[in-house]
Order: sequence, then structure tokens, then C-alpha cells
Amino acid sequence: MAECQGDGEGAKSPMELYEKLTAQGEQVRALKTAKATKTDVDAAVQLLIKLKTDYKQMTGQDYKAGCPPSENSVAPDNGPAAGGADDEDTVDPWNVSTNNAKGVDYEKLILRFGSSKVDKELVDRIEKVSGQKPHRFLRRGIFFSHRDMHQVLDAYEKQKSFYLYTGRGPSSEAMHVGHLIPFIFTKWLQDVFDIPLVVQLTDDEKYLWKDLSLEDCHRFAVENAKDIIACGFDVNKTFIFSDLDYMGASPEFYRNVVKVQKHVTFNQVKGIFGFTDSDCIGKISFPAIQAAPSFSSSFPQIFKGRKDIQCLIPCAIDQDPYFRMTRDVAPRIGYLKPALLHSTFFPALQGAQTKMSASDANTSIFLTDTPKQIKNKVNKHAFSGGKDTVEEHRKYGGNPDVDVAFMYLTFFLEDDEQLEKIRQDYASGALLTGELKKLLIETLQPMIEQHQQRRKQVTEEEVKQFMTPRPLHFNF
Ligand code: TRP
Repeated sequence: MAECQGDGEGAKSPMELYEKLTAQGEQVRALKTAKATKTDVDAAVQLLIKLKTDYKQMTGQDYKAGCPPSENSVAPDNGPAAGGADDEDTVDPWNVSTNNAKGVDYEKLILRFGSSKVDKELVDRIEKVSGQKPHRFLRRGIFFSHRDMHQVLDAYEKQKSFYLYTGRGPSSEAMHVGHLIPFIFTKWLQDVFDIPLVVQLTDDEKYLWKDLSLEDCHRFAVENAKDIIACGFDVNKTFIFSDLDYMGASPEFYRNVVKVQKHVTFNQVKGIFGFTDSDCIGKISFPAIQAAPSFSSSFPQIFKGRKDIQCLIPCAIDQDPYFRMTRDVAPRIGYLKPALLHSTFFPALQGAQTKMSASDANTSIFLTDTPKQIKNKVNKHAFSGGKDTVEEHRKYGGNPDVDVAFMYLTFFLEDDEQLEKIRQDYASGALLTGELKKLLIETLQPMIEQHQQRRKQVTEEEVKQFMTPRPLHFNF
């Protein structure tokens, strides 16, 4: 891997780091103009990405060229962050970063978080129990880690059903393709197991963490609900709720929030989330609100007051801290621990060192992008594992493991054989970067166009229906 000298570690203040970042941005541009070797440019870009991540960690804000940090930007100190060893990836609800171009080391994360690997045995078992070919996200290790899945399947085989819980923090109207991953997979789980789903929209969380008004957060929640509905969920089996609405509407939900609040100390959330004395008390108690939907008694209209229906949470691995806490308190308040299925992150266009970010338009393919925008973004910004010249590429082949276009295809191209052929052809040099990117563009364009069509058809009336607390078509 390219050498990284002099990173942001030395920077003491946001301003110092901002200046380093600006200088590094100029350095990258200069190298590109001078047509420096790919190794040199890559090394400079990697350092730039690392500095940007450090900057976000230090200030809580994205770096913007020409916008120096204000005097009082302080470290939010969210999350135990890198927690010691320098080679450790950062993965918490607020930050995801690694120095490795292939992305986060997920095997290590399983060990660090104490979860279990989704191995072939589990995938085969899901196939057997559901009677369906496993979703490509399972076949390809995208949902790679779990907690208690075997227990869920054991019970299901004995006719004991379960329910799904997932969520989204509505921080803006703009959702990108990465946001769809948990929902695409949840839809599949709902279809093959025929079970209820609750979707939490944490408008309260975004209000607490971001510089947004309550009204905006709530509006984003309703707008995001449309994108979620467009994934094809069945209104008879799905309840989508905004925390700001449901907390006041459901005494049972609030009671569960309070139970969790009573059983977790400030010390514990400090340890799990890295909160400090200067974080507002809303943040400190918020984890209880994300925990409560894991208990079936929070939804009496669906589960008829039963508190013993098992919950399964499909989510990206960065949400795990919330559910480690939830699983820890559950038995102490007389509830079942939720089971989990964790996904990897959806890489930014610039490379797998970090995930897509809705606040930087060039790192993401948005659900509102036009076919032309998709084409331009992929061609211009998708980090390539290809060689500098056609001659070299033909001779040595490309590296699919760091190539973002190839990574995206593993998420969205359904045909396993076709994907494997693309991988081999790219690695051998038979397939060029431009050709690989074209394959991705042709996969994304119809996918996003179809999403836009479906979203257009979602009426206000339908959104209201999904978001109204009501019985679902299940008998509990
Ligand atoms: N905190 C999550 C976010 O910011 C939203 C969320 C709430 C969630 N409940 C969840 C995500 C359950 C996954 C599963 O995106």
C-alpha cells in the first residue's frame, strides 16, 4: 500500500487541520496536473481522505474548501472512535473510516464487536427455512455478521414467528443508493418470511445531532418515508413511524423508553457512544428511543399487547452499539434480546475508505439523479482499480478489490455468473475500466429510474396510511 507520511495526527486545532487539508487538496491537484504516477496520486488522495475524516471527527462538520471552521467548533467526541491502535478502523454511528482501499476489515470487526459471521451454513439454513434462493446480499457477504440468527430460525421452524425492525435517520430529503441497502434486504426478508415490519424514522435524533429545525427533521422523515415505500413494502404488513409523532401517540412505546432509561447509566452510554459531559441530555437519553422498537410491546396495535414476539433488526454494522446496549438491558426489563443481521457499508465513489455521505454530492449517487448525472458521476468520480494506460491494463489487469464500479456491481448485479465473469475479465485485463464503468452505469440507470417512477406514484394518502398506528394483517 502507498506510503502515508505526515497525516492529520499532528494537527491540534480545527484551523490547523483545515489548513493541512487545503494544502493537501492543492497537492493532489498539482500532482494530477503534472501527470504524476498513479501511485503518487493515490497516496496523496488517500491522505486527503484521511484528513477529511479526521476533520469531520474533530469538528463534527464536513470540510468545505473556502469555509474555515468557526472559532467555537468543538470536538463532538462521538464514539470511542479509533479507540487505541492506529491501524484500527473507525466504525460507530457517526464515523466510518479506514486506511485500507479495500474497505473496513469486517472479519476484525466481528471479533471486536463480538458478533458472529454469516457463514455458508447460516446462508444454507436461511435457504432451507425460507424455501427461497438467498438474496444476493447474503450470497455475497454483504450482510456478513449476525447475532442470534440461529435462534430466530429455530423458533420459526417451530411456527413461532418474529418481526422486523429497521430505521433511518432523516437528515435531509436526499437519499442515496447506499441508504436503500437495508430496505432492499428488509423487503426480501418480509416477503420470504411473511412477517410484520416496523420502520423507525429518527427525526428526533437528527434534531439533536444536527443544526436542523424540528419542522425540517419531521418533513424529511415524511419525504424519506416515500422512498422507503417505493422499495415495495406491503402496507398491510408495514408500520413506518416518526419518533416525533409516535412517542406522543403510544403510551406503551414511551413506557418502554423509560424502562430502558432507568436501566442504563450515564457511564454505560459514555463507554458505548463516547458521550461527554458537554453533550446535551437529549443525546444521552436518545439510545433508549432507538432501543424501544426492539420490544414487541411497543406496538400493541400490531402485537395485541404481547411482549414475547422476537425482533430481528437488519441494519448496517455502525448501528450495532445501539443494539449491544439494547441486548444488554432486555433481560433486565423482562424482554427478549433482539436478533441482528449486519451489513457492510456502501462505499463512497472515491473509494472504500469511507461510506457514501449525503452531505457531499460527489461521493454519492442520489435517488434523484438523472441518467446523465449517474453517467457523469461514475465516469468522473468512481475510484478505479484499473491501470493508467490501456497497454498496461491489458498487460497487468485491473484490481477489482479496490475498484468502486466493481464493488457497486456486487451490490446490484443479480446474476452471479455474469459478475464472476466481469471480475475475471477485469483482473486479466480483458475488460477495461471504461467498459466496467459502462456496465455499472447501465445497471444503475434503470434501477434508479424505476425507483423514481415508483416514488412518484406514492400518494400522500398512502404515506398517511403507512404512518398511522393500526393493526396489521397478522394474528398474534
Ligand atoms: N440511527 C439510525 C440512523 O441514523 C436510524 C435508525 C433507528 C435505525 N432505528 C434503527 C437504523 C434500526 C437501523 C435499525 O440512520
